[in-house]
Amino acid sequence: MGRLAGKVALVTGAASGIGAATARVMAREGAHVVLTDVQDDRGAAVAAEFGGAYRRQDVTSEAAWIALTDAIKAEHGRLDVVVNNAGIFIGGTIEETTEELWDKVLGVNLKGLMWGCKHGLRIMKDNPGGPKGSIVNISSITGYVGLASGAAYSASKGGVRLLTKAVAVHAARTYRDIRCNSVHPGVIDTPMNQAAFDASPDPNAMRAMFAAIQPNGRMTTPEEIANACLFLASDEASSVNGAEILIDGGWLAAPNPL
Ligand SMILES: NC(=O)c1ccc[n+]([C@@H]2O[C@H](COP(=O)([O-])OP(=O)(O)OC[C@H]3O[C@@H](n4cnc5c(N)ncnc54)[C@H](O)[C@@H]3O)[C@@H](O)[C@H]2O)c1
Repeated sequence: MGRLAGKVALVTGAASGIGAATARVMAREGAHVVLTDVQDDRGAAVAAEFGGAYRRQDVTSEAAWIALTDAIKAEHGRLDVVVNNAGIFIGGTIEETTEELWDKVLGVNLKGLMWGCKHGLRIMKDNPGGPKGSIVNISSITGYVGLASGAAYSASKGGVRLLTKAVAVHAARTYRDIRCNSVHPGVIDTPMNQAAFDASPDPNAMRAMFAAIQPNGRMTTPEEIANACLFLASDEASSVNGAEILIDGGWLAAPNPL
């Protein structure tokens, strides 16, 4: 029996990186996984690897969230896990931040995730057998410390960290067995970072520089983040609520090089 046997899991941003790895790990552990993204070809290809279902969804739209979660309820009768993973990075210091940049980044990373909490909860509270479910929100190490070159991104991830706790307390007090936790990746080897390497004058040097940031001397893999999501989604974490899991190879534990 898999660790998520019988569960229905929704993973956003599942066409790429951490989301794709999480969808694969959850399917391997017995969940029926619904993958969503705005990159349809890539999302469908990941789903096809294990017979999962891909649906197009722009996470910024509440109407799209309602349609998606209602469809999952109609098809599967329940929703056990939501992994709010979809995210974008647009760099910019506070001096470089425009209204357009702010709205884009906060729109996907915080507003989109908020809809995922709201409408995940809406279905989970009516699950057959009683309210039950696990919401996993992907924040970042930049939800703890400011990223000077990504002011809006940092703000969005700090928002995710505390929204998670507000949802966690409400869900537990109201429905007992619905949980909400956040995961905080450090430097992960995904297309999001590869895009930054490719945009630099020397992508290989930039890649080596990123690999050297974490004290363990390498980037974390998407699968290492997926494993934390798996734990939080499973019944092994049945009393873990409002918690933060930092996965950064020790980066935040080592604020200086000494
Ligand atoms: N890569 C890292 O080092 C790192 C570090 C900390 C946190 N994170 C977070 O992890 C999550 C996944 O990042 P990743 O590195 O796998 O990035 P990625 O770019 O590989 O994947 C993100 C996915 O989200 C999708 N997406 C973007 N906007 C969307 C929208 N409006 N609606 C639906 N889907 C949308 C993209 O199409 C993409 O497939 C993000 O929330 C990111 O902020 C990543």
